[in-house]
Amino acid sequence: MKIGRHLKLEIYGESHAPQIGMRLEGFPSGVHVDSAALQSFMERRAPGRDAFSTARKEPDVPEFKSGIKSGSTTGAPIEATILNTDTRSGDYEKTVPRPGHADYPNWVKTGRIPPGGGANSGRMTAAMCIAGGLCLQALERRGIKVEAKVEKVGDILSAKAEGDSVGGVIAATVVGLPVGLGGAMFDGLDGAIAQAIFGIPGVKGIEFGNGFKSADLLGSENNDAFAVEDGRVVTLTNRHGGILGGMTSGMPLEFRVAMKPTPSIYKPQQSVDLSTMAPTTLQIRGRHDPCIALRAVPVVEALAAFCVLDAIVADESGIEFRSVGDGEGLENIVIDENVARLYPKLAAKAICVVPSGEEHKTIDTVAKLWSAFARAGLGRKDCVTAIGGGVTGDLTGFAAATFMRGIDWVNVPTTLLSMVDASYGGKTACDLAEGKNLAGAFHPPRKVIVDAGFLETLPLRELRSGRAEMIKHEIIGGKVSPGRLDATPTADEIRANVAVKVGIVKRDPLEKTGERMKLNCGHTVAHVIETATEYAVSHGEAVAIGCVEEARFAERLGLASPGWAEELRARFAMAGLPTELPEGMTFDSLKPLMKGDKKREGATVVFALPCGWGDVRPANMV
Ligand SMILES: NC(=O)c1ccc[n+]([C@@H]2O[C@H](COP(=O)([O-])OP(=O)(O)OC[C@H]3O[C@@H](n4cnc5c(N)ncnc54)[C@H](O)[C@@H]3O)[C@@H](O)[C@H]2O)c1
Repeated sequence: MKIGRHLKLEIYGESHAPQIGMRLEGFPSGVHVDSAALQSFMERRAPGRDAFSTARKEPDVPEFKSGIKSGSTTGAPIEATILNTDTRSGDYEKTVPRPGHADYPNWVKTGRIPPGGGANSGRMTAAMCIAGGLCLQALERRGIKVEAKVEKVGDILSAKAEGDSVGGVIAATVVGLPVGLGGAMFDGLDGAIAQAIFGIPGVKGIEFGNGFKSADLLGSENNDAFAVEDGRVVTLTNRHGGILGGMTSGMPLEFRVAMKPTPSIYKPQQSVDLSTMAPTTLQIRGRHDPCIALRAVPVVEALAAFCVLDAIVADESGIEFRSVGDGEGLENIVIDENVARLYPKLAAKAICVVPSGEEHKTIDTVAKLWSAFARAGLGRKDCVTAIGGGVTGDLTGFAAATFMRGIDWVNVPTTLLSMVDASYGGKTACDLAEGKNLAGAFHPPRKVIVDAGFLETLPLRELRSGRAEMIKHEIIGGKVSPGRLDATPTADEIRANVAVKVGIVKRDPLEKTGERMKLNCGHTVAHVIETATEYAVSHGEAVAIGCVEEARFAERLGLASPGWAEELRARFAMAGLPTELPEGMTFDSLKPLMKGDKKREGATVVFALPCGWGDVRPANMV
């Protein structure tokens, strides 16, 4: 029993077999696993806790066999099992199918009625909860929350007293999703969720937003009007349930699940003895929930989390979070000079060492790379690997884009700035005397390998520069990381932060819709600070100052509330970053230089102004 596209989940075992288990492939590496939180999530599903659930009592403690080391995921398949300790196979009929159960089709298909429903048993949902519990934790670190609750249920205790059962409706909501997750038609996130949810025994229906009710409405009654709120496109109502054409709309994802009444009831029921084909009256024994909807709530959360994470992993395919070791498997290495000194085993495999520093991000260095590629005998099918910060990545990517009209490249970022920002989106460039990044090409790397271990040797000033881009992503994504700003970020923090840029780049790869423009937030001012100081102010430092200056400009234009620029300044300052223009510079004195910015349109300077958390707006200055 398998599900998933990029993240793959397999559930195995049977209700009355010695154990059940799950194998989860493609789960991101470096995710810290909170075992206590996972256990309390498992307990929400576990039976025997109250009068509403079966008396079968099992602790449901997963035993992890692989994929987790020292409390974090390794990137290898995660496998876990749960022992079945409280089975009573004697309670089950061997030849009389229970009405409402899968017994009859199982008998025809396999020649037996498996005890306790076998692979169709609700017990299998415990394995789904192990996988889903891990997915929920990974999503929570990205600010995505999945919550389900029972919306409607019959009178459970009266039904139970009469040996009967009731069904119910579960309502689920996912908040904090980016826009555009999922895909068209068979790639839709709603389709994926529906398929997963139908894997829960007893599910008879699912609807998103208005669902079946929408069939009775007029278009004008069912559509959700668009509006702009705090610089973001929102809908004034959410009848579409946060999903349009299979893709998330940025509104809360809302769906409802119909659960049938538990088919195992204690009332006598008419059935057939399949061994004799004679009619018989069935009296079910054993321990059964009078309402399965209650315990299905965490399972709905688990599977929704799995599907959402699967869609996110699909978005981030091409990014690996792992150690590069001594460079095994990396081809034709181009390495930054300082990194080469610190990591001699990688340097020993290099075909070219790039001089460190923005002052070397020139066409001369690109020409040096072209020659190194030619000397190494590279052909059109070869691939080069950049190991270094944003400068090495931009230069190697540009040289790869133009060598033999384009060869592949892999990027191994070694600075925080390039781990969270410069490595994604395919922009490659070198600087000209007239300005930064003026010659370049769109040429995305085939793969980005993020090894957070490189941060151990990164000087503090460079670490802070990376923090500046992380805070820029917080502005764009509207979510502030709970991590400490003065500490080296964890792999989880990096991953969550990267998602902001990767999501935007996926939606607007060639800067056509205006979405990608948001990534230039603070950069119109930042770039001129860098050139005016001849790169004495680093890119990240310039971004911090640029964001604050542009936030102040937004306040002057009335686009941001008073106090916003100061709030932002305090956050950059907390990360140890400079927040004021260098001595002798003012916003006005930089204007002539801004007119040379490559985002200008004629004589108009174009800004992506930070106006609030999650609020970046285009603005022009003539
Ligand atoms: N392509 C894009 O989309 C994009 C986005 C943002 C920034 N950029 C570009 O990235 C550049 C800035 O990147 P950066 O901040 O990584 O600068 P960088 O590449 O110059 O690296 C900064 C310094 O850190 C050193 N270094 C790198 N890794 C190290 C490590 N692990 N240990 C010790 N020292 C290490 C380098 O030698 C260098 O001295 C700018 O040129 C900017 O324009 C590009």
